Amino acid sequence: MTNSASNSAHFYLTTPIYYVNARPHLGHAYSTIVCDAIARRKRALGVETWFLTGTDEHGEKIERSAKQAGRTPQEFATAIAGEFRGLWDRLGITYDNFIRTTEPRHVHGAQKLFATIRDKGFIYKGFYTGQYCVSDEAWVDVPPGAPCPDCGRITETVSEENYFFKLSAFERKLLEFYEANPSFMQPESTRREVISFVRSGLKDLSVSRTSFTWGIPIPGDEKQVVYVWFDALSNYITALGYGSDDPEDKARFEKFWPANIHLIGKEISRFHCVYWPAFLMAAGIPLPYSVRANGWLLFDQGKMSKSRGNIVRAETVQEVLGADALRYFLLREIPFGQDGNFSFDALVQRYNGDLANGYGNLVSRVVNMVHKYFGGVVPETGETTPPEIKLRALAEQAIAEFAPTFDELNFSDALKSLWILVSETDGYLTANAPWKKPEGRSDEEHKQLQARVLATAAEAIRIITALVYPILPDAAAKVWRQLGLGEIADAARQSFLTHLAWGGLKAGTQFSEPAPLFPRAEKDAVERMQNLEDENNRSAVEAASQSGSKDQPAVPAPPTAAPSVSSVMSTDADESKANENLTQTTNVSHDAEKPTKTTNVHQVSADLSSSRLSTTPSDAPLDSPLTPKQPEAATPQVSEEKKQNPSSAPQQTSSAATPAAEQSEHITIDDFAKVELRVAQVLVAERIPKADKLLRLEVDLGYEKRQILAGIAQHYEPEKLIGRKIVIVANLAPRKMRGLESNGMLLAASLPDGAPVLAGFLEEVPIGARLK
Ligand code: MSP
Repeated sequence: MTNSASNSAHFYLTTPIYYVNARPHLGHAYSTIVCDAIARRKRALGVETWFLTGTDEHGEKIERSAKQAGRTPQEFATAIAGEFRGLWDRLGITYDNFIRTTEPRHVHGAQKLFATIRDKGFIYKGFYTGQYCVSDEAWVDVPPGAPCPDCGRITETVSEENYFFKLSAFERKLLEFYEANPSFMQPESTRREVISFVRSGLKDLSVSRTSFTWGIPIPGDEKQVVYVWFDALSNYITALGYGSDDPEDKARFEKFWPANIHLIGKEISRFHCVYWPAFLMAAGIPLPYSVRANGWLLFDQGKMSKSRGNIVRAETVQEVLGADALRYFLLREIPFGQDGNFSFDALVQRYNGDLANGYGNLVSRVVNMVHKYFGGVVPETGETTPPEIKLRALAEQAIAEFAPTFDELNFSDALKSLWILVSETDGYLTANAPWKKPEGRSDEEHKQLQARVLATAAEAIRIITALVYPILPDAAAKVWRQLGLGEIADAARQSFLTHLAWGGLKAGTQFSEPAPLFPRAEKDAVERMQNLEDENNRSAVEAASQSGSKDQPAVPAPPTAAPSVSSVMSTDADESKANENLTQTTNVSHDAEKPTKTTNVHQVSADLSSSRLSTTPSDAPLDSPLTPKQPEAATPQVSEEKKQNPSSAPQQTSSAATPAAEQSEHITIDDFAKVELRVAQVLVAERIPKADKLLRLEVDLGYEKRQILAGIAQHYEPEKLIGRKIVIVANLAPRKMRGLESNGMLLAASLPDGAPVLAGFLEEVPIGARLK
């Protein structure tokens, strides 16, 4: 089977559909911008193009995020899908269709695909017991309790009666397909990885879930929902109209399927290069022509992602430098397929070097001189000399080389060579200096030189602008107008790239007024972008702390009235604050200087608020001080919020009027309400190699499962903890220890010898109940 003959009259390309558990960031914008550049170029080449993007809205991850935010999954998904779509519109992304997997057209099509594969005998019912990574929505082949090999997050044990897809039946067929279609997946590293994964043997794949409901019901067995990756992958055909009886949908599907390019992030290649082709083979649907994987955008050394708290928003760059600057940077700086660093410094450097001082300056010089010396009318070139012949040859070479390089998605090299033409044109201008009449040159000769040089440089600019249009659409539109050529979008509709050749700018063309393209970024540009990010993070935190405010779609409300810092929908600022939470196990302080046998809840919260400022590592002995020891009576308990906003806490801050000893004894009810204490049940407890004091626990909060690392290993046998109900602080920002994420703290009383006694209940309490 071969699929190499791609249809050249039509072109269908797709971005991954984005999960709606997080707001869009630059990592998401990257794939979408790449697709937009491809789509724009294809259209300008006269190819009928369909560019699809959308949102992936079902699954356990979204259901949990919504539940924790106190919203229905549908409300939750609608809010975030709106954010994605809104951002793409603001960035000028020319998608032809935006699919949401909760739309009826998709639900219907995905059910049809499922039923078709089942009817062909490739889906059967079985029982699944194994590990599941909710974050990746992926089945993973690791022992219980082990982290996900891809994302490192804790996996959960799932035991369900499921429908299985006979993936094993496609092992040989897939390998044959890859062999016959060497360009199906790229880059080479992805291809090698995928082939080795398939060669290592394919097991049948569970393609349904029963333990939650937020998904597409399996036709004929509605208590099961379709596995979210089966659901998500099918968007590529349901968006075109697969499964619909409407003749228009059928025609669209016939016209555009198979997709020419599924553009994806490298970590989801297994789903696109193994599962998706296998589903399609099983259903008897032709396979896509190619899958192209981009690398990751890194920031501060790590993959830019919400959970790492190191994201940058596209809006920030757009506001300070413009959307074109972002597009140019991403495509020029990162060789497609490789990981690439994002930094504001590098962005500003590229912007100033290549755009402000490079292309922008060139355009401005030439347009201004044509106005100055020729009243804005393109002069006749006249007799050409070797420098014009050389520049023309360079431009023709750029036209010839740009296409294949761009079509291989090697945007960085395509731009690099095009910028050689920018600097050659600049050098040509400088060498001929049309602004300077040397002694001994007649007026007429000088006018001829000016005409020849400016007409030639303007033509080179026209070529550069046409080629760069898919990458810098806004700037190209401005330049096109300045060159008196009208709207570049109209030119694109008339397939202007099919006949791009030297000589298109005719003498007599009237330029329009010069307009700035890329004003030079000043020194403060980096700071402004950083400030915008900080400001956004701050306001997101504030929004998150306004309980239940339904008019804040981007920051769905936390589950309870209290601000929830660790909500799954937590803002990026919440996550970036993770490191401030330095204590993960908390003992109910039984202070040596003030021994008391009773431990009341107020004391617990007072200790907790101080523990937040502690630098004690959580695998330190439980009796180690949570804060550096201070003279007891002199330590006022002032909440962080009140430290920042003293006016809101007169009773706490007016220390002159209140004896210090009294302040250390009391906190307000608001302080206490900030701490989200909940009942959790221990599901897994195990020792951590080389960490004598730490246990790794998996606990169930009813609405979600968590991993917590606790410094109780010397006092509790892990096996004895399983099934036990404990109390945890549920809204602490996560923290990494020994490479593992800890998401909460246990409450325990601390005996005089430092031994912890876990807090518990005599009566039966439901999991997840809040302590008030
Ligand atoms: N919903 C799935 C895709 C289903 S497609 C049928 C998913 N969603 S995602 O929101 O987690 O990621 C969407 C895309 O964004 C992925 O291709 C991912 O690689 C990309 N990126 C997210 N963060 C990224 C970076 N920091 N850098 C580059 N791309 C990144 O996976």
